Amino acid sequence: MTIDKSPDKIEYMFNELAKDYDRNNNIISFGLHNLIKCFAVKESGIKNGDVVFDLCCGTGDIAGLLSKIYSDIDISGYDFSDEMLEIARNKYPDIKFQKADITRLPVGSCLADAITISFGLRNVFDRSCAINEMYRVLKSQGRVIHLDFGKHNIFSHIFDVIVRFLIKNFSKSVSAYEYLLNSKSEFPEPTQLIEEFEKCGFKLLKRKNFLLGIISMQVFVK
Ligand SMILES: C[S@@+](CC[C@H](N)C(=O)[O-])C[C@H]1O[C@@H](n2cnc3c(N)ncnc32)[C@H](O)[C@@H]1O
Repeated sequence: MTIDKSPDKIEYMFNELAKDYDRNNNIISFGLHNLIKCFAVKESGIKNGDVVFDLCCGTGDIAGLLSKIYSDIDISGYDFSDEMLEIARNKYPDIKFQKADITRLPVGSCLADAITISFGLRNVFDRSCAINEMYRVLKSQGRVIHLDFGKHNIFSHIFDVIVRFLIKNFSKSVSAYEYLLNSKSEFPEPTQLIEEFEKCGFKLLKRKNFLLGIISMQVFVK
């Protein structure tokens, strides 16, 4: 199946979804997404003093966690959805959140020690352009911490069935979550995604599975 991921359409969808986004995430993951994000951040190798860009920052979960765990990091969030950004700014007034398409970041080259991108790359129309852009803005030895749905295994299919049930019964955003399930099944499995990053010059440092492989994290280095 080919999904329409034209940037205008994705931006519109996330603007529409924004005010229910956190609530829906808690419903479909039974709150576990917070724990997984926390674990991913702790495994990331990010340290005090680092300059970190959180791409596709959405409502700011990862940026918020980073600023809570590390007292002295310079973190900026980037996303193209105004509505998601507004929620992020209200939740974390001390963090800089900026409107930007992550395939064209409004920053110079070789500036970041680390990039985090969680449940974002799956929605980007031109994935290789986004990965090249990450490479451009990272310092040498800089890291990308990527988190998203992982293997297309039996547990992942069971997850889809549960999400379909929960969204039908507890959410108003049925079509957006149809999109989520379709984009999840179309998104490359970790092994293929690793090849895509390697093609752009990255090296894999570590990978980790959560929830029996339904969610997966990779850490790459420039
Ligand atoms: C599923 S949300 C993830 C939010 C957050 N990172 C999290 O883990 O909860 C995906 C976000 O990616 C953003 N996004 C998708 N494509 C983008 C692009 N090309 N440039 C900037 N933001 C994009 C959407 O606006 C949305 O806020």
